[in-house]
Amino acid sequence: MEHMLNHKLKQIEISGIRKFFNMVADEEDVISLTIGQPDFHTPEHIKQAAVNALSLNRTGYTHNAGILELRKAIAAYNEEKYHISYDPDKEIIVTTGASQAIDITFRGILNSGDEVILPGPIYPGYEPLITLAGAKAVYADTTKDAFKLTKENLVKHITNKTKCVVLPYPSNPTGASFTKEELNELVSVLKDKDIFILADEIYSELVYERPHYSIAAFESIRDKTIVINGLSKSHSMTGFRIGYLLAPSWLAKELLKVHQYNVSCASSISQYAALEALTNGKNDTLIMQEAYNERREYVYKRLVSMGLSVNKPEGAFYFFPKFPMKEMDSFQLGLELVRKGKVALVPGSSFSVVGEGYMRLSYAYDLETIKKALDRLEGFLQM
Ligand SMILES: Cc1ncc(COP(=O)(O)O)c(C=O)c1O
Repeated sequence: MEHMLNHKLKQIEISGIRKFFNMVADEEDVISLTIGQPDFHTPEHIKQAAVNALSLNRTGYTHNAGILELRKAIAAYNEEKYHISYDPDKEIIVTTGASQAIDITFRGILNSGDEVILPGPIYPGYEPLITLAGAKAVYADTTKDAFKLTKENLVKHITNKTKCVVLPYPSNPTGASFTKEELNELVSVLKDKDIFILADEIYSELVYERPHYSIAAFESIRDKTIVINGLSKSHSMTGFRIGYLLAPSWLAKELLKVHQYNVSCASSISQYAALEALTNGKNDTLIMQEAYNERREYVYKRLVSMGLSVNKPEGAFYFFPKFPMKEMDSFQLGLELVRKGKVALVPGSSFSVVGEGYMRLSYAYDLETIKKALDRLEGFLQM
């Protein structure tokens, strides 16, 4: 019966990260710096809001776009933090994690044969959805430009099939982010073209060098920009599955149809928790951000002292050092690291082919664990 499946499903595989974990699952006494979620508990008042929502029987379907109070809170939060204005009635959709926002965007805008520019190394959640939509992922290698898409690199990859460019920043896996000036360069190319911009800003609250600047603040491209964000990283709420998308009303109206037939609405209980997070917990991220920053400084010093070539991340909670590969690929190196060094990092090839030669290290772990893992990594490199 396999031939009966959607043919495009055969073109996508389980993620490199998952494959890697399956291979090392039985190894013992390994310290892992692999995980991509905050190591903090969800703040108490947010959990309590979820409990209250249950007690008050707020357990039914909500408006397809999400409860209006939450959409209003999302609008106010984005206005205050990033100086971007979206109408809660017509321009905001609450989704099941940022993941679903990405999915409905691609399903809403892509036709078969379209191309989507992905600056790599990049989070592996985009390409399979692009493939399922019958479109093609086109990678722009950013490894020579401090992992940032430049104007020249963007122009080089635009064709008459380009439908969308994805800009995830701060970046998973590299931690690179854009300044306003760097974004302005990209905007100067995109403003006169019929190309959508999908800005995945899920790590916007985890920045260490300067405040986050949302690309949607450039009025000239607002009408073709979809901003994706959510509470998974900022409020340590990955399991609540609350994300959102911000889009001009003409586009949000269309994407809402996909969302409606896909999930009807995000979980009502989680939406009330998110409402609490974005109103009374607007600054909950600060304490986590301070802890990440301390770890970032520590890890950076250690990796540099090991002689690894590495960029200091500007945001998120990842490092993406280059490794001396000794004729191995990053997947094999990952296995060696686990088996001989007893420390797990994610092979760079999990983040597209241009991630080959690198490994992702997450610092969403307490300092003691990070220290032990880095001691082991150092030992491995000296073997
Ligand atoms: C860049 C990026 N976008 C989206 C997501 C998915 O977020 P969510 O858990 O809210 O679906 C992740 C998760 O790691 C991510 O790193």
